Amino acid sequence: MRHQRSTEVSTVKKPVNSDQQGKIAGLAVVVMAAGLGKRMRSKQAKVLHPVAGQAMVLYSVGLGLRVAGDCVAVVVGHQADLVRQVIDRATSRKTGGSPVAIVEQREQLGTGHAVLQSRPVFAVGKRGAPSRYLILNGDTPLLQEKTVRELLRVHEAECATVTLLTAVLADASGYGRVVRAHSGERGVSRIVEDRDANAEEQAIREINVGTYVVDGEFLFSALEQLDPSNAQGEYYLTDIIHLAQHSGQRVAAVVLDNPDEGLGVNTRLQLAQAEQVVRQQIRDRWLDAGVTMIDPSSVWIDATVTIGKDTILYPNVTLEGVTVIGEDCVLHSSTRLTDCIVGNGVEILDHCLFAASHIEDDAHLGPFVHLRPGVVVRKKAKVGNFVEMKKTDLGEGSKANHLSYLGDAKIGKGVNIGAGTVTCNYDGVQKFQTVIGDGVFLGSDTQLIAPVTVGAGAIIAAGTTVTEDVPADALAIARAPQVNRAGWAARRRALQTSATRETLNVKREPKPSGRMKKRLPVSKGRQVKKGSRG
Ligand code: UD1
Ligand code: MG
Repeated sequence: MRHQRSTEVSTVKKPVNSDQQGKIAGLAVVVMAAGLGKRMRSKQAKVLHPVAGQAMVLYSVGLGLRVAGDCVAVVVGHQADLVRQVIDRATSRKTGGSPVAIVEQREQLGTGHAVLQSRPVFAVGKRGAPSRYLILNGDTPLLQEKTVRELLRVHEAECATVTLLTAVLADASGYGRVVRAHSGERGVSRIVEDRDANAEEQAIREINVGTYVVDGEFLFSALEQLDPSNAQGEYYLTDIIHLAQHSGQRVAAVVLDNPDEGLGVNTRLQLAQAEQVVRQQIRDRWLDAGVTMIDPSSVWIDATVTIGKDTILYPNVTLEGVTVIGEDCVLHSSTRLTDCIVGNGVEILDHCLFAASHIEDDAHLGPFVHLRPGVVVRKKAKVGNFVEMKKTDLGEGSKANHLSYLGDAKIGKGVNIGAGTVTCNYDGVQKFQTVIGDGVFLGSDTQLIAPVTVGAGAIIAAGTTVTEDVPADALAIARAPQVNRAGWAARRRALQTSATRETLNVKREPKPSGRMKKRLPVSKGRQVKKGSRG
């Protein structure tokens, strides 16, 4: 990163005063998030669009909290309630309440006007007022904390009034251009917005990233002087740079080494670009933390996911939401987990879909398992081929390995769920619970009509429909008794064979008249009554 300023260059690397958690004393953060984002062509406010599963605005808010602790204000406007909810949900503490102050910009009159709305949050002009403000756009999700800390360091080292972050792009269109003095140290003299720029200014490739550090005493007095006579009729925050420079204040700038970091998301294309970059960063972070990925580029991990060491992710694994994966797990191909907690040593075979479920240590699942919200798979339990579960607790060491539906069920330890077991939990109006005690053996093709309880150690014979509670250690069997008719099948085959022969013989003869046709024998085996199929 290079830094430049309008006056002399300081060479002293003075660290910014921060506490043990890296929170910088006297710093306040303002995040601008009130705009609609017209260029997104969306019904949803731009800052709510997710990047790696997390609303865009939360990247700036998270960064603000990391550098400034509790002193963070977010300016909301479009879909204010929704944006507020998303921020509250993501930042609320266990003790209650969010450390983020939300202020509303009722009319979106520009970025300068947006920041001005945050004044009531801070004790401006009083003792304890922030000595400097870090101002962030809500649409720059790629910005890194170390860059912001460098910006703050340069601001302090140079005793600047305004320090801004810039990037040099091959295609600068759409961004505010950084206009520098023609001579001397070529310090920043102003920012000109794309729509206000003349041809010469449009040719400038250095852009304003939308990240600024501004002196506490200067900020709000400068904002009050903004004038909206520009192409958009807006109060541009960027005009404070010219105001500072014009009144002889120091303006410093830090140029990004990696211009990608300065990407401002205004369009769907930029959203897709941001997504790719963030996904790559997340994968790199987990690879670095000891997670194996067989084909990293095909693995999708949301920003909010945590993965333990020595876990192996096969191709096309997707981990979404607040998912936590333990150590030594193996997740095979094409599996998607959303908001799940997975213990250590869990193996998940191919093609599984899990949502809001909890899987304990050493459990084994898949292939083709669907866990809907509210499932707990206890230690060493096994769930296999084509099993669907919902709001069900499968006890330690229990097995449901084939073709079953288990919904609203509490299943004990060491239970065998036979192939094709169905908990009939819904009567068309209400849902009911099935309780299965420890050590129960359910034979194949069993239906349990809930509410029903099967006592510990009971055996349910294959093909049974359980309609009443089964006492512990009992055998429940409910199916029509079997009848064996000696020789019946052979006689049927013989009959069928002779009928077929007759039919074939007749077919070789000349075509019968209409009257004869009626009398021809028909094979009984081929008769199908109209409407008799299930
Ligand atoms: C802004 C900068 C531009 C810079 C670019 C970097 C200004 C005037 N321009 O342009 O120099 O190159 O970011 O990405 O600042 N917002 C509000 N209230 C408003 C208007 C906007 O809160 O009245 C918020 C938006 O929600 C967004 C941020 O401010 O998070 C930036 O607004 P946007 O419209 O994206 O500005 P750009 O045109 O990208
Ligand atoms: Mg923008």
